[in-house]
Amino acid sequence: MERTVKSCKALKGEFFVAADKSISHRAVIFSALAEGEGIVRNFLPSEDTLSSCACLRNLGINIENKNSVLVVSGRGLHGIQEPVQVLDCGNSGTTMRLLTGLLSGRPFLSILSGDQSLNKRPMKRVINPLLSMGAAIFGRNHGSNAPLAIQGGSLHGINYKLPVASAQVKSALLLAGLSANSKTILTEPVQSRDHSERMLAAMGADIDVKDLVISLKPGQELEPQEFAVPGDISSAAFFLVAGTLLPDTELMIRDVGINTSRSGIIDVLQAMGARINLENQRIIGGEPVADIAVASSDLKAINISGDIIPRLIDELPIIAVAMAAASGESTVSGAEELRVKETDRIAAICTELGKMGVKINELEDGFVIKGDREILKGNRVNSRGDHRIAMSLAVAALLSDGNTIIEGAEAVNISFPAFWDILEQIAVK
Ligand code: S3P
Repeated sequence: MERTVKSCKALKGEFFVAADKSISHRAVIFSALAEGEGIVRNFLPSEDTLSSCACLRNLGINIENKNSVLVVSGRGLHGIQEPVQVLDCGNSGTTMRLLTGLLSGRPFLSILSGDQSLNKRPMKRVINPLLSMGAAIFGRNHGSNAPLAIQGGSLHGINYKLPVASAQVKSALLLAGLSANSKTILTEPVQSRDHSERMLAAMGADIDVKDLVISLKPGQELEPQEFAVPGDISSAAFFLVAGTLLPDTELMIRDVGINTSRSGIIDVLQAMGARINLENQRIIGGEPVADIAVASSDLKAINISGDIIPRLIDELPIIAVAMAAASGESTVSGAEELRVKETDRIAAICTELGKMGVKINELEDGFVIKGDREILKGNRVNSRGDHRIAMSLAVAALLSDGNTIIEGAEAVNISFPAFWDILEQIAVK
């Protein structure tokens, strides 16, 4: 689907963004492993999270949607059943990697596959440590890519240092660790999002987190919970940048998750000069939440690298748009993980923003942008099937001279189905 986006004068309004994708996946998967009814309020009904639900249903879990509240009939770790069908993970890396961890310890055969993009993404990072826990997993390209075949069985715990900061790998190993016959100890190079640790602790798992070291002792039954999913900061990010860069703008984004393992974009935009205020800060369902007020402001360049990268990894495409409209030269480095997301996001950002006039140079692990607000011009661009690229290009289009045609605009349905509608509602033309 193509979508034409016109430049816009200002944004005004108060709204909610899509519910958090990472937390929604985990809330249904972990609830399935508890014994009894788990409740998930404000679950994100997007393509990725619905892939997790469909896979769980194939594993014998009943999930009902009662007035927008999901009721997950958990069967306990041992109640998960051998799937009759291939588990279709669609475009969702979180579904595939987390389920690979879980199913490695279940005594049956599972086959997991995804779309063209997902079946090209690296799986060795999750398969290798699972093999050392005793799992039997087979994949294409000598075990590098899906489709994956998992013959689950008994596992033992490991003491493992993750080579890459990845919440998906960490969560997969914790899920495998629940089935293991001894303790699992994981050490992260840099902290990645910690939603799994918070949720497992709330459900009564014997989990201990000290700085970058997570220890999980198996054997504890998980207790079903009532989860309330906050708004996704990764979805709010598009409006944080658009709201900052458009003149005469005032936005209030309600109930956004501001977990520090996710909130790097707020630190970066504030350091660039953005007027972003966190109001009404509180804890909902074990996660910090705030209402975020955004007002127009000029931005200055910034360099981003090092430990902050995992705290804003999914926001780098929209941060690139902020950098394109900031004064001065900005650099992102140490972000080679962007090359193995839903698309090669470094190549996508450089080529597609380049088509809109942005002066951007590709690095192996990032990019360099010479900011110039006046240079942005509308053009025909392509999302490459990647939701975050589609929404970043939409924000660039709002700032550009002339119309922009975004090919593959339907990609927003992966994480933020209401994106185009909200944009329509708050745009002042
Ligand atoms: C996610 C972890 C991150 C992130 C992805 C969602 C998760 O991926 O980019 O969008 O829910 O655990 P990695 O674990 O590969 O860094």
